[in-house]
Amino acid sequence: MTVITDIEDLRRLAERRVPRMFYDYADSGSWTEHTYRANTADFQDIRLRQRVAVNMLGRSTRTTMAGQEAAMPVAIAPTGLTGMQHADGEILAARAAEKFGVPFTLSTMSICSIEDIAAHTKAPFWFQLYWMKDRDFMAALIDRAKAARCSALVLTLDLQVLGQRHKDLKNGMTAPPKPTVANIVNLMFKPRWCLGMLGTRRHGFGNLIGHAKGVSDMSSLSAWTKEQFDPALDWNDVEWVRQRWGGKLILKGIMDERDARLAADSGADALVVSNHGGRQLDGAPSSIEALPQIADAVGRRIEVWMDSGIRSGQDVLKAVALGARGTMIGRAFLYGLGAMGEAGVTRCLEIIHKELDITMAFCGHTDIRNVGRDILLPPRRGVLQALEAA
Ligand code: GLV
Repeated sequence: MTVITDIEDLRRLAERRVPRMFYDYADSGSWTEHTYRANTADFQDIRLRQRVAVNMLGRSTRTTMAGQEAAMPVAIAPTGLTGMQHADGEILAARAAEKFGVPFTLSTMSICSIEDIAAHTKAPFWFQLYWMKDRDFMAALIDRAKAARCSALVLTLDLQVLGQRHKDLKNGMTAPPKPTVANIVNLMFKPRWCLGMLGTRRHGFGNLIGHAKGVSDMSSLSAWTKEQFDPALDWNDVEWVRQRWGGKLILKGIMDERDARLAADSGADALVVSNHGGRQLDGAPSSIEALPQIADAVGRRIEVWMDSGIRSGQDVLKAVALGARGTMIGRAFLYGLGAMGEAGVTRCLEIIHKELDITMAFCGHTDIRNVGRDILLPPRRGVLQALEAA
């Protein structure tokens, strides 16, 4: 194996090792995938301002996110079916996050359960909740998160309905995979993954199985969403969750300034500017494009974070410069997990941290908390336009 230098190396390795349907599940967007692509492409268009002869000793990327210490402004995002990228994936990723000193968020649609994570880690973790029709079940999930000493609840607001992801439909994605000929043939080429899965009993949605009543098909996210997710969610419901939970609350999926103001009014502790990794509204702008306006509008009243499209420490730095107090990474850590399990998530965090630290130094800063928009250059004009203007 060649030396792994960046997140793209982890992605390529994950693509080789993870069964097609789960790799595709993580690595696709909705419909034309325009927004999914814009999330990464727009980061590339942002240019950094280089400074020199600035004393760069004693650099720090440490910060806090919703009051929790973080070795860098990065938290692990909640991602569905993480335990299908690698056996016991959520436990491994939570352990890597704990050792590195960044927050870990467990998805409602995880394979390992809330209790599994609590049993295998010491650091407090965050739990992500979808708004569902069954209030009793939601209340029970909130209580389980409290009992597991989760230190924040991340309420996802942008998945009342599910954006269509063509690859999932074509692959017939379910957890565990159904034993069709195509699946069996694909699994024959993924021996490491299969061995891992043979060694664990965690093969289905750990937070739901044995807890959710009267749901006919829990093996597929889209079937579960159709039956359980509640299209009637509104801000009164957010208030219900806030009161029931009573702890730190993070609202995820904000893309509009008006919604950001409502989020700040709601008394939540942080909001996440997020288009769900381009998996929901295809045609929405990238999260990094939506970020500055929202940060300007409410950044003094509520912590503003962002996710979607982060594949490097440079991206984290750009998000911080544009007003994000913190960021969340989804695919970047999933690639690491699918490639090499816990060691791959650790490698992902190391890569991003090193890129962030060195790039911050190039931009003339030694403390991430002092980074602002001054490190960014105006959008690029073509060389010819620049000559004409000269
Ligand atoms: C779930 O949140 C998904 O995007 O599949």
